[in-house]
Amino acid sequence: MTLSKSPEKIRSLFNGIAEKYDFMNNLISLGLHRKIKKISAETLDIKPHSKVLDACCGTGDMADIIKKIQPLADVTGCDFSEKMLEIAKAKIHNVKFIYSDVSNLEFSDNNFDFVTMAFGLRNIANPEKVLNEIYRVLKPGGEFLHLDFGRKNLLNGIFDIEAPLFAKMFYGNKSPYEYLVKSKRVFPEPDELIEDFEKCGFKFKKKKDFLCGAISVQIMKK
Ligand SMILES: C[S@@+](CC[C@H](N)C(=O)[O-])C[C@H]1O[C@@H](n2cnc3c(N)ncnc32)[C@H](O)[C@@H]1O
Repeated sequence: MTLSKSPEKIRSLFNGIAEKYDFMNNLISLGLHRKIKKISAETLDIKPHSKVLDACCGTGDMADIIKKIQPLADVTGCDFSEKMLEIAKAKIHNVKFIYSDVSNLEFSDNNFDFVTMAFGLRNIANPEKVLNEIYRVLKPGGEFLHLDFGRKNLLNGIFDIEAPLFAKMFYGNKSPYEYLVKSKRVFPEPDELIEDFEKCGFKFKKKKDFLCGAISVQIMKK
């Protein structure tokens, strides 16, 4: 299955759903997505004054969770959807949110102790370019946390039915969520992803499964 992920299409899709993004995320995941993000972020040893970039930050949940785990960390969120960023900025006041395309980050080399990315890479047409950028901006020894859907198992399949259905009922338009289901289907499973990360120079540190592997986090080291 081929799926167009042109930056224009992806930006416009997220600008379009931004206003209801948090509501739909909470509904579709039954509130679990924040718990999963929290448990994932807690696996990182974020210290006071660690520099953290949350790439593809969307409405800012991961950045917010990291700041709550380590209030003295220096956290930046970046995204290229203006509307998602507007919501992040309105909700969260102790994180810097900036407009930036993750395939061309504006940061200097060896800048961050941690880069996190939750449910972002799946929406990117050229993931290798983005992974190279993340590697570049991480300090040597820095860590990349990648969280997304995992194995294509039964629970994952339930989501494929539930998401467009809830979107039609509560959002009034199921097409962005049909894209989401398609993007999951063509996205590599965690073990394949780890190989892709390793090809970009990262070393595997650990992984953790949630919901029987339907969601998975991988921690890679520079
Ligand atoms: C599914 S949302 C995830 C948002 C957030 N991380 C979360 O977990 O809720 C994907 C986000 O990636 C952003 N995105 C996709 N491609 C991007 C790119 N090339 N540069 C920056 N942001 C991008 C979208 O604008 C969107 O906000």
